[in-house]
Amino acid sequence: MEIKEILFNEHAIADKVKELAARISNDYAGKDLVLVCILKGAAVFTADLMRALSIPIELDFVRAASYGRSTVSSRVITITKDIDTDIKGRHVLLVDGIIDTGDTLSYLLKRYAERNPASLKAVVLLDKKARRIIDIPLAYQGFEIPDKFVVGYGMDYGEKHRNLPYIAVITSQA
Ligand code: IMP
Ligand code: MG
Repeated sequence: MEIKEILFNEHAIADKVKELAARISNDYAGKDLVLVCILKGAAVFTADLMRALSIPIELDFVRAASYGRSTVSSRVITITKDIDTDIKGRHVLLVDGIIDTGDTLSYLLKRYAERNPASLKAVVLLDKKARRIIDIPLAYQGFEIPDKFVVGYGMDYGEKHRNLPYIAVITSQA
């Protein structure tokens, strides 16, 4: 595996995170907001995003693993760690690093809607729109990216490269 092209450097990411944080701070002003970080990919994005918010929040984590080919909509999503927070009547914002087919987010949105939050929305940094199978209303979206495999800023290839400070396309994913 080789880094082929840097799509977004640290500065571009930081600017986008600030922009998203400003919108979220404005929209949720005076509201009881729970940020739910979708592990592991959203760890870096969440850490930066929440520090750029000007409003108080609570933070929780969910770990969703998916099995099966991502091009098939019948992929199985498994929760290996769920949130501990009681979200009933609270404003919940799911945070993900990248949306691809939409399977993971659609599963989580359904799962948490059943717990009767006051509101339930999602923010994603990267949107691989061309690959979407399930149409999901995204409240906040950072960058739209082409159908290429990316790593860095939390995103991995075989659990590696999450720590790269930039987002890059890799050459081979075989
Ligand atoms: P979805 O359920 O198909 O939307 O896939 C979302 C998950 O697939 C993300 O949270 C990532 O963990 C993973 N994923 C999809 N595309 C990429 C990529 O280009 N690089 C790294 N991980 C990816
Ligand atoms: Mg991964």
